[in-house]
Amino acid sequence: MKAENVSLSRALSKLGYCSRARSAFHIKSGKVRVNGKAITDPSLMVDIERDSITVDEVRLARPKTVVVMLNKPKGYVTTSSDELSRKTVYELIPDGLHLFAVGRLDMDTSGLLLFTNDGNIQDRITSPERKVSKTYLATVSGKVAADKLEKFHKGVDIGTGTIVKADECRVVSTGISSTSIELKIHEGKNRQVRRMFEAIGKRVISLHRSAIGALELDVPEGTWRKLSDNEIEMILR
Ligand code: URA
Repeated sequence: MKAENVSLSRALSKLGYCSRARSAFHIKSGKVRVNGKAITDPSLMVDIERDSITVDEVRLARPKTVVVMLNKPKGYVTTSSDELSRKTVYELIPDGLHLFAVGRLDMDTSGLLLFTNDGNIQDRITSPERKVSKTYLATVSGKVAADKLEKFHKGVDIGTGTIVKADECRVVSTGISSTSIELKIHEGKNRQVRRMFEAIGKRVISLHRSAIGALELDVPEGTWRKLSDNEIEMILR
C-alpha cells in the first residue's frame, strides 16, 4: 500500500467525509481522532492509507467514488442547511451517500449540478487552473449587440477590478424583448454570469447550466442519476 501524506483537513475530504471547506470546522470541534488521539489541528499531516482516522469513533475508509448529476430547479439554494428555511438542493438527492455539491448554483439558476463523495473530483472540476468549461444558457432583457458580446472575449470587469472572460459565447435566439445566449466559462466566481451581463448593461431573466466539460445534462428537472465509471473518467480527463 502506497503512503499518501496530506493534511488532516484534506484527508477528511479525500475520504469522502465532507468538503474541504467544511473539514476544518469538523476537526476543530474535537470529534476527529488520528490513531486514537483527538486532533484539533487541521494542518497535521497524516497518511490516508496507513493512519486510522475516525470521526465520532467511526473509522473513515476510502469509499467508492460516486458522482450524481441533478437537474436543479429554480428556487433551491445550494447549501446543506439554510438559516432562512428555504428549500435546499440536498432535499432532491439521495440521503446516506455523504454527497456534497461540486461548486454551486444560485437559487434562481437551474440546471446541471454535480454531487460527489470524492474531494478530488470537487477540486478537479472547480479549480480554475484545470479550465473545465461550464456551459450556460442565459436569457437576458432586450437585444444584445455583437460588440457587447465581443467584450466577453476580451474580458469584462465584474466589480472591484476582477476581470473575467468567456471562452465562447453566441446568440442562440432573439425574441421581441429578450435574447438567449449560450456561453462557456471555466472560472466559478460568485454570480459570475449574472455579473458579466450586468457589466454590459444587461439583466439576466433566466440562467440555466446545460453542461460541465463534455458532460451534458440529460435528466428531467428535479431528478438525478448516478454517473457511470466511464462518465466519471470523462469529466476528470
Ligand atoms: N453564474 C451565475 O451568475 N450564477 C450561477 O448560478 C452560476 C454561474
